[in-house]
Amino acid sequence: MKTNISKTPRAVAEAFAGHLIAQAKINAPFNVALSGGSTPKILFDLLAASHAQDINWSDIHFYWGDERCVPPADDDSNYKMTVDHLLSKIDFPEENIHRVLGENTPAEEAVNYGNQIETNLPLANGLPRFDLIILGMGGDGHTASIFPHEIELLDSDEICEVATHPESGQQRITLTGKVINNAKEICFLVTGAGKTEKIDEIFHRTGGWKSYPASYIRPEDGEITWFMDEAAAEKL
Ligand code: 6PG
Repeated sequence: MKTNISKTPRAVAEAFAGHLIAQAKINAPFNVALSGGSTPKILFDLLAASHAQDINWSDIHFYWGDERCVPPADDDSNYKMTVDHLLSKIDFPEENIHRVLGENTPAEEAVNYGNQIETNLPLANGLPRFDLIILGMGGDGHTASIFPHEIELLDSDEICEVATHPESGQQRITLTGKVINNAKEICFLVTGAGKTEKIDEIFHRTGGWKSYPASYIRPEDGEITWFMDEAAAEKL
């Protein structure tokens, strides 16, 4: 698996921003699934502050790889985080925003969002294909909202499923493993010492790697790059 290692989380965001700008230039329309989490927040601030003119935002269609089942104005909403840190600061066509309706009944929204993705995206291997899926990895090895206790969501035949946070019980809508692995490109953004052990185990297939959903993210026939800081990648 390709890695791109930078000194600090901000440097990771800079490295990934350069990659995103290059990819968005050669793929139009560009269907991207965003992630929540701390590193994307740094990335969105950077894109808004330093690269707003470097991307033709009307070519970009924003989806979310996972979303909390909360209203769009809720501080827990990944959509709200994206609005606060990026979308409120750039010009783009409203119709390019394809948010998960977190305020809907979770089971209904998982179906609705899956149908929207299937309708809007090109198919490959019989599944919708994103040009790029941005993922984070939690300290427990979860990715998107596929947590270790629901690792079977990796193999679901649905495009989206309802997931449940193991501690809070909060319901989430998540892309499933097959759709994630059908992407043209997957980029992980993983930073901080809290991820060192899991990255070590995933890359070296040691310890509990088999129980971490992030271990199974390998595109069928696409590219994957792990953008990390030195702290997260210390044992590689
Ligand atoms: C979410 C994210 C989640 C996140 C990881 C890593 O909705 O919270 O999609 O999968 O990427 O929890 O988050 P950090 O980068 O903040 O550790």
